[in-house]
Amino acid sequence: MASIQLRELEEYLQQLDGFEKPKILLEQYCTSAHIASRMLYTAQTQFDDIEGRAVADLGCGCGVLSLGAQMLGACHVVGFEVDTDALQIHSRNCSDLELFVEVVQCDVLQYLPGKFEKYFDTVVMNPPFGTKRNAGMDMKFLEVATKLASNAVYSLHKTSTRNYVLQKAAQFDAKGKVIAELRYDLPKAYKFHKKVTMDVQVDFIRFELNR
Ligand SMILES: C[S@@+](CC[C@H](N)C(=O)[O-])C[C@H]1O[C@@H](n2cnc3c(N)ncnc32)[C@H](O)[C@@H]1O
Repeated sequence: MASIQLRELEEYLQQLDGFEKPKILLEQYCTSAHIASRMLYTAQTQFDDIEGRAVADLGCGCGVLSLGAQMLGACHVVGFEVDTDALQIHSRNCSDLELFVEVVQCDVLQYLPGKFEKYFDTVVMNPPFGTKRNAGMDMKFLEVATKLASNAVYSLHKTSTRNYVLQKAAQFDAKGKVIAELRYDLPKAYKFHKKVTMDVQVDFIRFELNR
């Protein structure tokens, strides 16, 4: 059960502003309202992981996942994000929808290890995939997320890395299950890339913590 309909959630999320000048090195691309609403709705209706839960969003950007979790009735949502410009848009999006989501400006890989251990029931995130000379970023985010969450982590990862992701998750005491395979429209990464966007196959994975 969810407190609002999927269509209504998607319509609200469509109204949010995205990155104005996306920083390629931080892999700033928004999760579409279509994908974000389905991620969150699935987490709530199939696993009861959002409503009444404490939820963290790592690399929250402009807030599509954190605001969506709030709309679905999470009791406490905290977004963690390194970039000031993104957080300004996050704050504007909160005001526009008259929602409150706490944010912490930090590098999640530097600041979070050793903090908030198991404080959150659920972590939702669309981490940098590690395509910008930062290979392994999504795994570093996943490692932090599995420490923060007491119950489950929901995340997106390139399908081409599925076996590796699931094996690494096991090392973090998390059992990953692919819930859906998605086509994700990534903006072009380098000037010499000819196409403006590129479709990549992405897995939506739920990691259950073995605790
Ligand atoms: C793929 S975007 C996802 C944004 C947003 N969560 C969404 O779903 O639309 C990744 C986000 O992670 C942020 N980020 C990248 N590296 C980070 C780090 N080390 N610490 C915190 N945030 C980071 C980026 O600025 C960006 O907002």
